[in-house]
Amino acid sequence: KDSLKTNYIGKEIHYFREVDSTNEVAKKLARNGAPEGTVVIAESQRRGKGRRGKKWISPLGGAWLSIILRPNTLPINAPQLTFIAGVAAAQTIKNEYGLDAGIKWPNDVLIDDKKVCGVLTEISTEIDTIDYIVTGIGIDANIDVNLLPSELQDTTTSLKSELNQDISRMILVQKFLGNFEAMYDEFNKGNFHEILKKWRQLSKTIGRQVEIRKGTEFVRGEAIGVNSKGALILELDDGTLRKIISGECRHI
Ligand code: BTN
Repeated sequence: KDSLKTNYIGKEIHYFREVDSTNEVAKKLARNGAPEGTVVIAESQRRGKGRRGKKWISPLGGAWLSIILRPNTLPINAPQLTFIAGVAAAQTIKNEYGLDAGIKWPNDVLIDDKKVCGVLTEISTEIDTIDYIVTGIGIDANIDVNLLPSELQDTTTSLKSELNQDISRMILVQKFLGNFEAMYDEFNKGNFHEILKKWRQLSKTIGRQVEIRKGTEFVRGEAIGVNSKGALILELDDGTLRKIISGECRHI
């Protein structure tokens, strides 16, 4: 904790050996008035949550954490925080470990097309203001990929399997929180475009053929960019453009 160089993110850390989900613990703390920047970390999660109701396998060795935020912005801007978390994670993995980490829209962090980190943002609104936001980040740090369920093994990697050694999760989390805070400050100054600039540099989606699934609907096209809100712009085969605000993205 001594070398955590943030002003408010992670000044209060709640550490657990095992929880159901750090997002659930953080939401409860937030409802009870925990300050902005409060971080919940667990060594393992019994019921880690992924996006779209999927479960997130969270064994020992991973970095499973959630951050409580209370930004003074409209609820529609909340997805932007997910971008911040993805960029902060990709940046940290790239800069600290020299790995070729990039981002699949909107915010999965990949190394060679294999997922190493995911972000789940949950928001609680009061009429038209944000009460609190919990941004949960899961990084497969010191995980043996071959111990994961077999259906995940081809699509998942970990820092340990990329580097062939264990890393310090303490340093990983410190660096991540530092990068996160710097970008969250930018966001609060109204400089989301600066974050998008970094996102575009780290993007592995732009320029690729992708398939977006939204419920039962599928759209295929070339990802040609993201707009100022972070929505993905697809060019379909017939040349028309489609703006995708949310959905599951697959590189094809
Ligand atoms: C995804 O890519 O589907 C998002 C995964 C988010 C996982 C993290 S781990 C810490 C936090 N607690 C949870 O239950 N989920 C998030």
